[in-house]
Formats: sequence, C-alpha cells, structure tokens
Amino acid sequence: MPDLAEFESTAGQRKKLVGKVADLIEASGIDPEDIGSISRVNLWQGMSKDDDGNPQVTDLVGVQLSPKWADGPAWPVVEQGPPSVVRPTKVAKAKSPEGFKTCVVLPDIQIGYFRSMSGELVPTHDEAALSIAVQLIRLVVPDLVVLVGDNLDLPELSKYRLSPRFRDTTQATIDRTTTFAAELRAAAGPDASIKWLAGNHEERLPNYITDNATAAFGLRKGNSPEDWPILTVPFLCRLDEHNIDFLPGYPANKVWINERLKVVHGHKVSQGSTAHTYLASERVSIIYGHIHRREWAEQTRDTHEGKRTILAMSPGCLCRTDGRVPSTKGGVDHDGIPMEVTENWQQGVLVVTYEEGDGRFIPEQVPIHDGWAMWRGREITA
Ligand SMILES: [Fe+2]
Ligand SMILES: [Fe+2]
Repeated sequence: MPDLAEFESTAGQRKKLVGKVADLIEASGIDPEDIGSISRVNLWQGMSKDDDGNPQVTDLVGVQLSPKWADGPAWPVVEQGPPSVVRPTKVAKAKSPEGFKTCVVLPDIQIGYFRSMSGELVPTHDEAALSIAVQLIRLVVPDLVVLVGDNLDLPELSKYRLSPRFRDTTQATIDRTTTFAAELRAAAGPDASIKWLAGNHEERLPNYITDNATAAFGLRKGNSPEDWPILTVPFLCRLDEHNIDFLPGYPANKVWINERLKVVHGHKVSQGSTAHTYLASERVSIIYGHIHRREWAEQTRDTHEGKRTILAMSPGCLCRTDGRVPSTKGGVDHDGIPMEVTENWQQGVLVVTYEEGDGRFIPEQVPIHDGWAMWRGREITA
C-alpha cells in the first residue's frame, strides 16, 4: 500500500501533467470546444545545456487529438431510407380482355408524421388506406402503376409557418416512403411499369435546398452523373433499386396511359368542381390529384369528325382526412398538436383498363371508406 507522501506526489504529477496539456493546447491556438477526444498523451524529458554549459532537464509533453467533426455531426442528418429486400409474390394475373391492359392510379399519400406530447411519431398518412391500395395492386397485377404525387408531405421543408410538433420527422418520412416503395414493387410484381410523378410536396426538397443551401443543390456521389442528386426523393427513397421511374418537374410532368388519357399531379383547385375547370381547358381526358377529393365529370363536344367525349377525374387521396395533414383548414392547439377537423377530402384509387395507342379506356373509381373497399365484388379490408 503506497504511503501518503507517495500518493500526494503522484497526484501532484497528474495535476502538473494536466496543466502542461492545457498550456500546450492553448499555445497551439486550438479551441477546446473543437476537441472531440484525446487519443494519446506522451511525456518525456529533454536534455539541453544552458549558457554556462550546465545540463538542464525539461519536461516535454506531446498530445494527439481528434477534432469533434471527425465523429460526424451530433445532430441527426437526413439519410437514405433503409434498404429493403423485395420478394415479389407470384400471383396469377387478373384476366384482362384481349388487347387491353390495366393501370392502377394512386393519389396523394402525404407520408409524414408529427410528434405527440410524449415525442412519439403519429402518422399524417393513413396506413389502412395504403394497405388497401397495396392489396388492390396485388389483385389487379397491373401493367402500369401511376402515383400522382404528394406521396411525402415534408412539412419541415414547407415555406409555411409550422408547429414545432412536426420537427425532426423528415427522416422517419423518408424511411417509411422507402419501405412503401419496396411494398409497391413486391405487390405489382417485377414486370409492371411504376411511374411516380413529383407533386408540389416532393418539390419541397429541391426548393428548400435552393432557398437555404444553394451550393448543395444537385450534388451527386462522386463520378456518378447518372445517379439522382443526393437530396432528392428518388435518391433518398431508393426508387431506382425498385425500378420505379421518378418524374420530376411539377407541374409540367405527366404520364400518358394511352394517347387519349394523361395523368398529372395538377395545380388547379376550384371552389366547385375542379373537374369542370379541367374540362374547359383540356382536349384529351385527364386524371389529376392535388385536390384530395373524388371527382368525375365528362364533356361531349361537337367536332368535324363527330362528337368527342373527354373526362376529367380525381381518384381522391390516400392520406388521413381528419385534419392531421397540415392544410389551410387545419389548426393546432397551444401545444402545437394538430386538431381534429373534417376536411372535404375522400379516399380512393382508380383502376383503368385501356388499349394502347389511340385506344379506348374504362376507368373504375374504387372508393375507400374507413379501411374498407370493394373491387369487382371482392372486399378489401386493411
Ligand atoms: Fe396533396
Ligand atoms: Fe399537391
């Protein structure tokens, strides 16, 4: 057992050593705030001679530091969603009439979350409606799936004032959307074409970068000009890994199901029937999203070749319709929690049977009511 004098001497040396390390860091001009960890301290003695030629012993100290930033940032950064293994189930294809193909159109999903008082994630999308959409795709086994856009809500990147309850939810949104992309591919099977139109909410991500960090706009992994820029929905949600075509450029982007029918996200919102606003300006049939309401209207015009009928329809939405998705009608309480409110929104999807080229098509509205739908006599429940 060391005696007291020896203990005090060791403690004194330790104190001296800490003082020397502190002096050295200060003399080097390093801000202690920037130090992440001290990985090694060396202590040795140097011999020199003074002006009179007498030997002098000097205590020397060497310190190996690593900066704080070597461990990465302490705050959560936005990352790609988790990778998923897709095992498409083999399903017998629903029989389409000879020469016809099928398309399923999925409207605004608004995947997103807010945080409850205890900090738990509460979805603004509707898992029950999503489950029905995925089950329907498994039944139809379509040739084409079109997502009209607004599949992520991204309120943190919005230009509008936002309750703090929506903060720190973007990574969870990206993770859920990535898993949804895998579920979609697994349900549709490997041969279906899946097209994902960017809506105004997907465009929030590049817009946010443009407004707040322009130098980061369009950055890609090194030597990968074919890849999507990193801070985009298709990169973060791994859409290429599931062979999903992402179509940016809202509101100019569109998908043609055939030469008579196109799909857009849409930017028109009317107090009455938005379908009639489209019919007034369009010359071909159109499916649009964005308004979150189910609509269907048609117009027949006289032409030199005879009468021509076009339709305008909205499948509705797949998000929650109870005020949890931030909207002009929504409100929050004094804790920032979104209030329950009845939005004039309806859930649903569309199934379109069509001929390619300048061919015929038949749309089927499939409304969803509280986790329940019916398609061609088959019940689908969440
Ligand atoms: Fe939307
Ligand atoms: Fe929209």
